[in-house]
Amino acid sequence: MLRLRQISVVGLLAAIAVLPGCRLDMHVQPRINPLARSDFFPDQRGARPLVEGTVARGELHEDTYFYTGKVGGNPGDYMPFPVTKEVLERGRERFNIYCSPCHSPLGDGNGFIPSRGFARKPPSYHIPRLQKAPVGYFYDVITNGFGIMSDYSSQIPPRDRWNIVAYVRALQLSQNATKADVPAGQDVPSRPPNFKGVDGSGATLPVIAPATQSTSEDQK
Ligand code: HEC
Repeated sequence: MLRLRQISVVGLLAAIAVLPGCRLDMHVQPRINPLARSDFFPDQRGARPLVEGTVARGELHEDTYFYTGKVGGNPGDYMPFPVTKEVLERGRERFNIYCSPCHSPLGDGNGFIPSRGFARKPPSYHIPRLQKAPVGYFYDVITNGFGIMSDYSSQIPPRDRWNIVAYVRALQLSQNATKADVPAGQDVPSRPPNFKGVDGSGATLPVIAPATQSTSEDQK
């Protein structure tokens, strides 16, 4: 009895070891290694080129204006999405990171890098020519560069480029505003903020106190 069981165990193990060798079906099939030569195709390339016009998922870029800032080859003068406070705040943040080192936080071209010998001083955004330039023009300068300024297409994604453009427009308005641009009843110049406690010792950032009752009364 015991012997019979031993024989059947040995037999089972032998079957497990041998049987997989009999299954050749899909284990061996004609294939080529990646990028290897193949005689099957006339150009002998094993890796096939993409079908012409193939577009990766999410890369169709149907909205040409959003991606180029141009309408029929010329810069357009409208934003591809509504400008909100969030758009301007994001634009200010990105502008201060990517543009202000050369163009200065004010956009007057007196940034730190030109002051240290960068080949050419950027023009001020507040010259009439750039004040009149359409928003699509600024988008195009960020996307493709201008003169010795390199492009920022790999660093700044399209939506952020537009956010920056909106902020540059706001900078231009801020430097050329008149009293008529200020809502009625608001002080010109606007009042300095009130600071909570000590204002900025250098070790700590100043904390701006919320507007007092009297200021908000004035603004009504
Ligand atoms: C490394 C310095 C540098 C940085 C960073 C930089 N610029 Fe410039 N920019 C220049 C210089 C220099 C010029 C002038 C180029 C020339 O005339 O050859 C210029 C020109 C321009 C112009 C004017 C084009 C014209 O028609 O005269 C615009 C608009 C502009 N930059 C926008 C931007 C924006 C927006 C950013 C941030 C995304 C930016 N630049 C970042 C250096 C810089």
